Amino acid sequence: MTLINSDIKSASSFLTSGELVAIPTETVYGMGANAFDAEAVKSIFAVKNRPFYDPLIIHTNSVKRLEEWGMHIPEQLEKLAQAFWPGPLTLLIEKSAMISDVVTAGLPRVAVRVPNHPLTLQLLAHCAFPVAAPSANPFGYVSPTRAEHVKKHFDGKISMILDGGPCVVGIESTIVGVEQGKVTVYRLGGISIEAIEAVVGEVLVRTSSSKPDAPGMLLKHYSPAKRVIAVDSQGEFEAKLNTQSACILFNLEAKGVPEKNLIRLSQSDNHSEAAQAFYSALRHWDDDASIHQIIVQRMPDFGLGRAINDRLKRAIV
Ligand code: TXA
Ligand code: MG
Repeated sequence: MTLINSDIKSASSFLTSGELVAIPTETVYGMGANAFDAEAVKSIFAVKNRPFYDPLIIHTNSVKRLEEWGMHIPEQLEKLAQAFWPGPLTLLIEKSAMISDVVTAGLPRVAVRVPNHPLTLQLLAHCAFPVAAPSANPFGYVSPTRAEHVKKHFDGKISMILDGGPCVVGIESTIVGVEQGKVTVYRLGGISIEAIEAVVGEVLVRTSSSKPDAPGMLLKHYSPAKRVIAVDSQGEFEAKLNTQSACILFNLEAKGVPEKNLIRLSQSDNHSEAAQAFYSALRHWDDDASIHQIIVQRMPDFGLGRAINDRLKRAIV
């Protein structure tokens, strides 16, 4: 049986004894295990059906604790940590010997993040270890932004889901590291490129790759069960529309679409609102046999719109 509640004491005792607990963060729910316990970490891969070459992010509640465990933020990334932690930013830093190769898939760097969720920050403060946590979805499927999304796939398979309500950012963290002296973004996410560049100046963006070593960015990922079609204009939208279509729109008009087949990502052209609603919308028609395809409007390609478009592209490949 999988417990679902918001009791951080139970969550920390399960984690301490090597069991899996799904944790809420501001981005998406994570599938958590004690990062110092290689066997516990292996069970994350097993339950998600995740290949061992795809490394995990470790979570803790402060930079100070990372330092106690022998992990240091390089100077070029310090300002980002100061500006955005706790928050939807993941930094790739040199790994310490305390972190097993299972976590990093044998890579020289480890991905670290201080998430901004009140319950999870308390939980992390309680734990004598960092918590390794990839998104709590079966590998390749859409990430979960609510406790019930996690329950749908993992009920009975993990010890507990810590219920922290719906995720407020709704899209995964932005992954940043340093490569050949340059601050490099490996995955678009909850902190926009514009916000990062406002802190550290121009960055390299290296997000598009089918190479498994390329952080976080397998081409096919984030896919719902139904066929997904992306459209840019009113004309293109209307040309694809049929009675078996569900629609996820930002600001296009939805003439003739029944209410039950339409989700609006934002009522006010707001990219943050759109990101928050996006994954939940992609999952919405999974069990609806009357829907054969989901037509999704591409976002204006800036701010969080760019990260949403990135996920949309990978949902279609
Ligand atoms: O917002 C998030 O980042 C969520 C929440 C739970 O924190 N986590 C998340 O984890 O999205 P996941 O595993 O779904 O995506 C993490 C990505 C991986 O696909 C991996 O390729 C990249 O981060 N990554 C992790 N460790 C790495 C490393 N040592 N070197 C390069 N890339 C790494
Ligand atoms: Mg994931």
